Amino acid sequence: MGDVLQFDDVTVRRGEKAILDEVSWSVEEGDRWVVLGPNGAGKTTMVQLASARMHPTSGTVEILGERLGSVDVFELRPLVGLASAALADRIPGGETVLDVVLTASYGVTGRWREAYEDLDTGRARDLLAAFDVSALADRYFGSLSEGERKRVQIARALMTDPEILILDEPGAGLDLGGREELVGALGELAGDLASPVLVLITHHVEEIPPGFTDAMLLREGRVVSAAPIEQALTAENLSTTFGLELDVQRYGHRWSARAASDITAEARYAHDSGISARPF
Ligand SMILES: Nc1ncnc2c1ncn2[C@@H]1O[C@H](COP(=O)(O)OP(=O)(O)OP(=O)(O)O)[C@@H](O)[C@H]1O
Ligand SMILES: [Mg+2]
Repeated sequence: MGDVLQFDDVTVRRGEKAILDEVSWSVEEGDRWVVLGPNGAGKTTMVQLASARMHPTSGTVEILGERLGSVDVFELRPLVGLASAALADRIPGGETVLDVVLTASYGVTGRWREAYEDLDTGRARDLLAAFDVSALADRYFGSLSEGERKRVQIARALMTDPEILILDEPGAGLDLGGREELVGALGELAGDLASPVLVLITHHVEEIPPGFTDAMLLREGRVVSAAPIEQALTAENLSTTFGLELDVQRYGHRWSARAASDITAEARYAHDSGISARPF
């Protein structure tokens, strides 16, 4: 299988600033990528390129073997499912949840859509069920909680049966229970061989679902590491990425990170009190 996404020396310049600086990245069939980096690192800019919503200033971007700039982006876009805060903001609050998912397919089925209507409705309902939000089908999107909205958005992004699913910070604004439910749902998606290639953007290693295979770490528009997840998520790489000394741990199939200074404080506490503060 060829590459699903291929970035070669991609630079995006805005004024004097290179918001992406010679980024190279190769995503293959079956991959589940997490893209980590601090605010302003260039993650959403990468998403814009990978979903055919922006062109690079220099370098080349290939999506499913088609080079951006030499292909009709409107043919590519339905092949890339995208869920992001910016897209959610454009969904009218007065639209029902079922319609929010269903309308994702309008651009694809076009003038023949009447013939597809029942099929589409069935698929939209299946997707709502898969993300455990069937009961919300007739509610207005504007009346949902943040966690419910995130699930509906992912269902919508999957409606066109895309080859690639990109989620830009799906965990933002969720409480602990909401985050864990989302991580569980995304873990199931990652484990399903029928799922599209997944790209998950996040600030937190705690949000990496089980089954994610690779990680890209971005800082100030540059790649710190893009490799299989165990190789990429080292304390050194994470510290460079976020600009502070971090310790990273893997517990089973989940990850956790915290400031290295906290570990020193913990060791001092354990020494002074004569007890271990580390329950693991
Ligand atoms: N049109 C633009 N003109 C100038 N600067 C821009 C433009 N678009 C993005 N930027 C800048 O590029 C940098 C990267 O932005 P981007 O949205 O890709 O970051 P991000 O990694 O997604 O950050 P966050 O984690 O906060 O979402 C930021 O400093 C942003 O201000
Ligand atoms: Mg962003």
